[in-house]
Amino acid sequence: MDKKADITLEKIVSLCKRRGFVFPSSEIYGGLAAIYDYGPYGVELANNIKQAWWKQMVQLNDNIIGLDSAIFMHPKIWEASGHVAGFSDPLVECKKCHSRLRLDHLLEGCGITADEKMSEEEIGKIFEKNKGKIKCPGCGVSDFTDVKKFNLLVQSNLGNFTSDWQKEPVYLRGETCQGIYVNYKSVLGSARVKIPFGIAQIGKAFRNEITARQFIFRTREFEQMEMQYFVSPEEEMKEYEKLKEARWQFHLSLGIKEKNLSWHKHENLVFYAKAAYDIEYNFPFGFAELEGVHARGDYDLTQHAKFSGQDLSYIDPQTNKKYTPHIIESSVGVGRTFLAVLADAYEEEKIGEEIRTVLKINRHLAPVKIAVFPLLKNKSELVKKAKEIYGKLKKTYMCEFDDNGNIGKRYRRQDEIGTPYCLTVDFDTLEKGDVTVRDRDNMEQVRIKIEDLESYFQGKFSA
Ligand code: GAP
Repeated sequence: MDKKADITLEKIVSLCKRRGFVFPSSEIYGGLAAIYDYGPYGVELANNIKQAWWKQMVQLNDNIIGLDSAIFMHPKIWEASGHVAGFSDPLVECKKCHSRLRLDHLLEGCGITADEKMSEEEIGKIFEKNKGKIKCPGCGVSDFTDVKKFNLLVQSNLGNFTSDWQKEPVYLRGETCQGIYVNYKSVLGSARVKIPFGIAQIGKAFRNEITARQFIFRTREFEQMEMQYFVSPEEEMKEYEKLKEARWQFHLSLGIKEKNLSWHKHENLVFYAKAAYDIEYNFPFGFAELEGVHARGDYDLTQHAKFSGQDLSYIDPQTNKKYTPHIIESSVGVGRTFLAVLADAYEEEKIGEEIRTVLKINRHLAPVKIAVFPLLKNKSELVKKAKEIYGKLKKTYMCEFDDNGNIGKRYRRQDEIGTPYCLTVDFDTLEKGDVTVRDRDNMEQVRIKIEDLESYFQGKFSA
C-alpha cells in the first residue's frame, strides 16, 4: 500500500501538538489564525534544518556569504520591488455567507488549473467562464463578487506618531531577499567578493494570506531561507541550471525521498523573469510548492538603482565591462521544509497488536540524538550511572534523560519524536561496564562498552 495514503495531515498535526513540535499561537486566548509557535522539539528540528541549509549554502561555498538584515526597511523598497502595487492574491467574496476566498484555490478545488502568479485579468477570465461550476466551500451557494486583488503586505505604524499613519505605512517584510538586494553594494565593498557570488539569509517574513489552511504550510508569519546569486548576463542560465541541481540535492540530503519530490515549471512568467521552477513535495494534501528557484534577470538591482538614485552596476575587474548584475535565487520556507521532513519520516508500523508511530527522520535533523535511560527509576546505582553517561554525552549531542514509566513506553515516546538511539543502563552495566544501545529504525539492540560510546556515536553521526 502507498504509505502516503495513510499519512493524513491530521495525524501530523496531532503528533506535533502531543509531542511539543508545533502549537497554535496564543492558544489560551483562542488562537490567532495562520500563526503557529514551535515547541521544545519543534525549535530543535527547525534549528537543525536551518543549520543544514546554512552549511550547504555558506560553509561549503567559498563565494556565498551570510547576511542578517532587519525586518523593517525603508518603505520605498517595497515600491521599487513592485510589492506595493502588485503583491496580491485574487480574492472573491461569497455574497451569501461572506466567506473571503482565494480564487486560485477555489478554482483548483473544482479541478480548474489556475496560477497565483496570473494577472487579475487572466484569472478573472477563467473565473467568468467557470462561474456556474464553482460553489462556496462554506455554504455551497454559487454567488460571488467580482475578483479583486488583495495586497499581502502587512503594514505597521513604526516611527509614525500621527493618526493617519496608514497613508505612509512601514511594512513588515514580505520576503527576506529585498534585504539582500539593498545590501548588495555594501557587501561588494566590504567582503572581497566578485561576480559570481551569492548572499544567503534566514529570517522572518510576513504576508496577509487570505486563507489560513494546511497547518504550517501557509502561515502569515514564517521564516524563509533565501540565497540570491549575482551573475553576469551571459552566465545567468548556466548558473541557474547548476543552482536547480544543487537545490534538488539539498532536499535529498535532508533524507526526503526522491519519489516525493518533483519539478513544476511556471508557464506564466512575470515580464522580467527568465525562468521559474518550483520544487514540489508530495504533502499529505498532494504535491505543492516547497521551494522556488528563479532566474530574475537584472530587474531587482535595476529597480533599486532607479528608486534609490544609487549606482548599483558592477565593473568586471578583468574586462572592465560595466553591467547591472543578474540574479538567480533559491527561496524556501523553514516551515514547509519542516512539514515535508515530518511527512516524509512519519511511519506507522504494526508490531504484534500494537501500532508503533515512528519518525524515521535523518539523524542529523532529529531534535534529540540520544535518549539515556536507567532501567529502573528506584535503583539509585542505575540512576547514578545513567546520569554520569548522560552528563558526558550531552556535551556533544542533544540528549534526553528519561526514567519515567517502563522501558517499552520510553522507547515509544522517543520513536515518536524521532530519536535515533536509546541507551539503557541495567544491572549488567554495573557488572560488565556496557550498556544497551537500541536503533530507532530496526529496533535492534547492541551492547557497547561505556568507554567506547563516544567513538561509537561519532561513527554514527559523522557521515
Ligand atoms: N523571494 C521569492 C519568494 O519569496 P515565494 O514563492 O513567494 O518567493 C518562497 O516564496 C518560499 O517561501 C515558498 O516556496 C515557501 O517555501 C515559502 N513561503 C511563501 N509563502 C509562505 C507562507 N505564507 N507560509 C509559509 N511559507 C511560505
